[in-house]
Amino acid sequence: MIEAPKGTHDVLPAEGARRELLEQHARKLLGGAGYHRIETPMFEATELFARGVGASSDIVQKEMYTFTDAGDRSLTLKPEGTAPICRAYMEHGMHKLPSPVKLWYLSPFFRAENVQRGRQRQFWQLGAEVIGAAGPETDAELIILLAEVLEAMGVKGTRLKIGSLGTPETRNAYRAELALWLRARESELPAEVVARIDLNPMRAFDSDAAAAVMVDAPRLMDRLNDEDAEHFATVRRLLDNAGLSYELDTTLVRGLDYYTRTLFEYTSDALGAQSGVGGGGRYDGLIEQLGGRPTPGAGWAAGVERILLAGAEQPIAPDSVDLYVLVAPPSESGADPASRSLAFDLAHEARRAGLAAQLELTGRSVKAGLKHADRLKARYVAIVGEGVALKDMESGEQTDLASADVVIPTILRGHRL
Ligand code: HAM
Repeated sequence: MIEAPKGTHDVLPAEGARRELLEQHARKLLGGAGYHRIETPMFEATELFARGVGASSDIVQKEMYTFTDAGDRSLTLKPEGTAPICRAYMEHGMHKLPSPVKLWYLSPFFRAENVQRGRQRQFWQLGAEVIGAAGPETDAELIILLAEVLEAMGVKGTRLKIGSLGTPETRNAYRAELALWLRARESELPAEVVARIDLNPMRAFDSDAAAAVMVDAPRLMDRLNDEDAEHFATVRRLLDNAGLSYELDTTLVRGLDYYTRTLFEYTSDALGAQSGVGGGGRYDGLIEQLGGRPTPGAGWAAGVERILLAGAEQPIAPDSVDLYVLVAPPSESGADPASRSLAFDLAHEARRAGLAAQLELTGRSVKAGLKHADRLKARYVAIVGEGVALKDMESGEQTDLASADVVIPTILRGHRL
């Protein structure tokens, strides 16, 4: 039997319903704050991610699904959404739109990672991006909106960590300082950390094996310039005022190289080793790095599968059925084609009239059909044979109607729509 590829999974209807709920919350919360939906293609030029996400990131180094198409173009299934959105912003001249441009997305992403609970090769993200606003209010608004989405989905045991990376200049000076500091301790550090000293020394804070040495390492947050420190202090004050609790993390690094200033991550205790439920930050240099004019940006993305894993099971109302149409006698034992055709037309017309209507499709007997209609919690059943009988499933009352034409008006009259 052919199975779904490793690290992918089928979204079956029960999970689909929970995803719809997430989409509804996103639309309400993000739409209400002025964010508009955007979706970018499933694959992009490989160079976009190499330049946007950063050559030293794990994503670019080992996790991209890259292929060459018939036109000899190197393409990559999108591993994240921020670089594609910045590409779309530039390509469509969105800088001409009133600023800031606020966008959200809900789409699948691809990373060739080792598979474990909450870590897949195809996963979905809900994301939000604000392009064209540099102030700390944007950062705080984004952080609070993600908290609201997580809360709406009943995500349990969330914790928020925030930090600041400063501007590229501060970060570069700090990286040089940290690289020197690490070089002086090479013998105490694991090989993978030493290998990354020149590419991105800050990733050393990510390594559990280097944790004991890194305790004494210089911290970027202690090197922030006045403007960056003030920006960060304002973000914190706004979060404090909003009553959002957070931990300051002086070594917070995320797996993407484009961040500047504010950085944040939500984890959930309800998840295992892959506890990051969502995160993001500011990326003021990204658009320029991709060839655009200097434009500030900030945003986040949250893993849909992780939200559902850590989220509460919420009661989901089954789809209602206004009318279920049966043929008598059952079609398999030779119901006349005229009744079958009448039944088909009735279900079709009922849907056109705005009713939720289903036709019995497997040749059930009237008795079995009524049982099935009961299981579907159908409000009415029409039994089409010699004439048409309409059964009110709430009262149990059954009426013979003069013709099929009266079924829909009768339901619409009696129906509490
Ligand atoms: P990220 O931290 O790489 O950020 O991914 C965001 C979220 O996607 C993670 O917190 C996690 O919940 C989920 N996720 C990532 N990889 C996987 C995986 N293999 N399986 C399941 N879930 C996963 C970004 O992608 C940035 N683009 C976020 C951002 C937007 N920053 C600014 N704007």
